[in-house]
Amino acid sequence: MTILVTGARGNVGRRVLDRLHAAGQPVRASSRTPGELDVPAGVDAVPLDLNRPETFDAALDGVDQAFLYAEPAGAKELFAAAARAGVRHVVLLSSSTVHESGAPLDPLGRFHAAVEEALAASALSATVLRPGAFAGNAYGWSAAIRGGRPVRLPYARAHTAPVHEDDIADVAVAALGDPAVAGRILTLSGPESLSFTEQIGVLSDLLGRGVPVHELTREEAVEEMGPHMPAPVLDALLGQWAAAVDRPVRVEDTVKRITGRPARTFRQWAEEHLGAFTPADS
Ligand SMILES: NC(=O)c1ccc[n+]([C@@H]2O[C@H](COP(=O)([O-])OP(=O)(O)OC[C@H]3O[C@@H](n4cnc5c(N)ncnc54)[C@H](OP(=O)(O)O)[C@@H]3O)[C@@H](O)[C@H]2O)c1
Repeated sequence: MTILVTGARGNVGRRVLDRLHAAGQPVRASSRTPGELDVPAGVDAVPLDLNRPETFDAALDGVDQAFLYAEPAGAKELFAAAARAGVRHVVLLSSSTVHESGAPLDPLGRFHAAVEEALAASALSATVLRPGAFAGNAYGWSAAIRGGRPVRLPYARAHTAPVHEDDIADVAVAALGDPAVAGRILTLSGPESLSFTEQIGVLSDLLGRGVPVHELTREEAVEEMGPHMPAPVLDALLGQWAAAVDRPVRVEDTVKRITGRPARTFRQWAEEHLGAFTPADS
């Protein structure tokens, strides 16, 4: 009855692991470098590289359910190995960039859609989580805010409905525990649509000081962000933000429906993680 948690040191995976372990479920953590994982006492850490099928069988041996990160390269082989191993149900961390509208998908959407399609074509029972922007994306502003520098970003008035990673983990754990959720696609968001400026305003309010914002042009953003991500992905991201300027995004009630309590707010996330935005000597 072991549950395999991939991405066990990821923002979401670690939270899933901790919740399952605290609930007394037998869990196995996996990583490409399991020796570097810091897992709760008594939890096995095993090697698994979602791009390397030769690592699948051992990691899946004796596994009943799995929490999976999306990685298209080995997805078909992974799901075949899971079916062979007798895995009964998987929960996939996908993305809201996979729309059902029929609109052409951007590279992020295609990346996740490829894994969803391989999963749908497999023999496995599955629940697919499609979160929108994570609240934790705000970490991208932390160095500037800690250093008292302006936050530099394009499309400052673009909206997202940031979802707290604890809520994604809570829904994942509920899906692992509830066969009624099997076969469903769950789109997740936070409880309110906020522009980037409004999110920075929440941090500023909690810090008790102004946080200046320097809005970049698209060209400046390409220059500054280009070294950190592939060009087609950056292009897609900038396109999403450009389209969301002054346009509140849809808020989903999935967290409440599945967990029975309201989704956590961005303010709550910011209160919990304020240390990352505060200089060490203050
Ligand atoms: N940030 C957002 O706004 C957002 C929104 C929607 C969806 N998503 C999706 O959510 C996921 C990111 O979640 P996160 O923030 O929890 O991740 P994260 O903190 O960046 O961690 C990524 C995890 O993925 C694992 N991983 C990466 N490549 C792997 C591979 N080839 N084989 C095995 N494990 C691999 C890493 O494990 P090891 O390094 O230990 O091997 C790590 O634990 C992505 O798929 C992203 O597209 C993000």
